[in-house]
Amino acid sequence: MARKKIVAGNWKMNMTPSQAVKLVETLKPLVASDDVDVVYCVPAIDIVPVVEACKGTNVEVGAENMYFEEKGAYTGEISAEMLVDAGVKYVIIGHSERRDYFKEDDALLNKKVKKAIEAGLTPILCCGESLEQREMGVTLDWINLQIKSDLDGVAASDVANMIIAYEPIWAIGTGKTATSDQAEEVCGAIRRTIAAMYDEATAEAVRIQYGGSVNAGNAAELFGKPDIDGGLVGGASLKEDFGKIVNYK
Ligand code: 13P
Repeated sequence: MARKKIVAGNWKMNMTPSQAVKLVETLKPLVASDDVDVVYCVPAIDIVPVVEACKGTNVEVGAENMYFEEKGAYTGEISAEMLVDAGVKYVIIGHSERRDYFKEDDALLNKKVKKAIEAGLTPILCCGESLEQREMGVTLDWINLQIKSDLDGVAASDVANMIIAYEPIWAIGTGKTATSDQAEEVCGAIRRTIAAMYDEATAEAVRIQYGGSVNAGNAAELFGKPDIDGGLVGGASLKEDFGKIVNYK
């Protein structure tokens, strides 16, 4: 069965709550689609108003991060249960900005993935190599390691329903998109890793996005590749262009 494409915006640390609601209103007619799942991953403080503003539309709301503990003395953190109660369906886990600036390692991310699934959220698990790693020729080894560590102990049926986002760090926010062949090579390799860890059916089911300077001009070519099931979009998700990316065909 063909996988449904999924295009998610990652707003990062942009949009105050009132700006967020305005953006949702502006994008509403532009992102309508029956063929593509559409998600806005928004800052924690925007979740409640954005969930409200997206009611009755085709858009689901995601968080950009969460903590793996159930509840308690973790000042500043947000639990999976809080997200679910607020109406969140997806959560980005392991974005390179969190790995880099906030020192999140694979052991921690594995706990977050498990907790998200246990709570009923769909993880969007990010992986990706630096420019140095690409130039050293270790990209596929590195991505393999990230996927294997982050999914350690996660059941096949849960992997089949989650999202993996391949985001080369050198392509994020740089305007330097991976070519569709480069992106397809890694997304295909991720699928083969899933097949080796689990089975063919799980590998065929899991949706793999590309992220890194996706825009209205390159979305069609990227999403046209057999192993690329949509995109995780940063900068262009804050503009009307996001509608063109969703309706890339
Ligand atoms: P840009 O689309 O701004 O390059 O960001 C990609 C990204 O990090 C999405 O998570």
